[in-house]
Amino acid sequence: MRILSVVGARPQFVKLAPIARAMAGRAEHIVVHTGQHYDELMSDVFFRDLGIPAPDVNLAVGSGKHGQQTGTMLAGLEAEFERFAPDWVLVYGDTNSTLAAAIAAVKLHFPVAHLEAGLRSFNRRMPEEHNRVLTDHAADLCLAPTEVAMGHLAHEGLVDRSVLVGDVMTDVLHRVRDSVAGTEPDLPLGVHVGEYYVSTLHRPDNTDSPERLAAIIEGLAALDAPVLLAAHPRLVQLAAQHGIDLEQGGIRPIAPLAYPQLVATVMQSRGVITDSGGLQKEAFLLRVPCTTIRPETEWVETVELGWNTLVSDDLSILADAVHRPLPPATEATPYGDGHAADRVVDTLLGVSVD
Ligand code: UD1
Repeated sequence: MRILSVVGARPQFVKLAPIARAMAGRAEHIVVHTGQHYDELMSDVFFRDLGIPAPDVNLAVGSGKHGQQTGTMLAGLEAEFERFAPDWVLVYGDTNSTLAAAIAAVKLHFPVAHLEAGLRSFNRRMPEEHNRVLTDHAADLCLAPTEVAMGHLAHEGLVDRSVLVGDVMTDVLHRVRDSVAGTEPDLPLGVHVGEYYVSTLHRPDNTDSPERLAAIIEGLAALDAPVLLAAHPRLVQLAAQHGIDLEQGGIRPIAPLAYPQLVATVMQSRGVITDSGGLQKEAFLLRVPCTTIRPETEWVETVELGWNTLVSDDLSILADAVHRPLPPATEATPYGDGHAADRVVDTLLGVSVD
């Protein structure tokens, strides 16, 4: 069986890693990279560190407005799907690469499986929310990471084509956590193990308005310990455009971290402050408290179990949120057992779609 994965952005490379391992020897696996993310630190380093074979094709689509970026991908992917004629097209998560691949494939009658199906923020301002909903409804097979996601799929009438497989992010996180255990993170001068926060910001709702971004940066700068701000290119660009200095108070801007380095750095931190979906979950899996700068989260289990606190409009509560007492220890595994990728491959090999 020939399975064609489409990836394009940083979180998709992380999810591809366990899938590529699980596919080895079981299916012919073609990887098409759209080129949505293209910087060394946003792309290549993930393939290298996570042992992912180089993509068979890179469309080098690059940055652009949503329509232009998605449209260029659609045209490029259509040609690749016709060339490879896969038995399944596997799409990941919620980016413009996900949506473009789903649309291109279904129009050509190639079966589409959506990994990380059923997540909902119910926030229609997020481009990712539209990408998720449209992809789930186009897909022939929805591969859900959690019970909550299965519930959303059922509510939308998609239960008959949905399978609960668990979360492949748990697979990769467990493996990398074990491989970096005992290693010291590479910290900037004057920053000590256990005495810093890790932060990332990239969502348009936090970065695009100068007032909003300035308020968040002021909040981070005023915290009681250094904040390692692993700056996404979007953040660097917009801060410069808005005339906002990222290097304020305790903030130490650093380049985006490679995955093993990110895991090692979070493991030794006091807490995480982020608007990234993946990082909220990684913090939970490592049992590091997280504060999420968003009005809602798709990963509601992290909040229900007490390991994640949402801070949105009122940024004056950021310091209190970050300093809250540690939640009760938990053995809960809402994100699966670390073997989701095997279940994905089993399902693709065993399920036939008319
Ligand atoms: C995208 C995804 C988001 C995901 C995030 C992870 C969409 C709509 N959003 O957001 O779901 O959580 O990736 O990072 O698909 N840039 C570079 N170098 C790069 C990549 C991007 O400089 O390698 C800059 C470009 O100027 C670009 C901007 O970052 O305009 C934003 O990139 P884009 O791919 O549009 O979306 P992200 O904000 O990265």
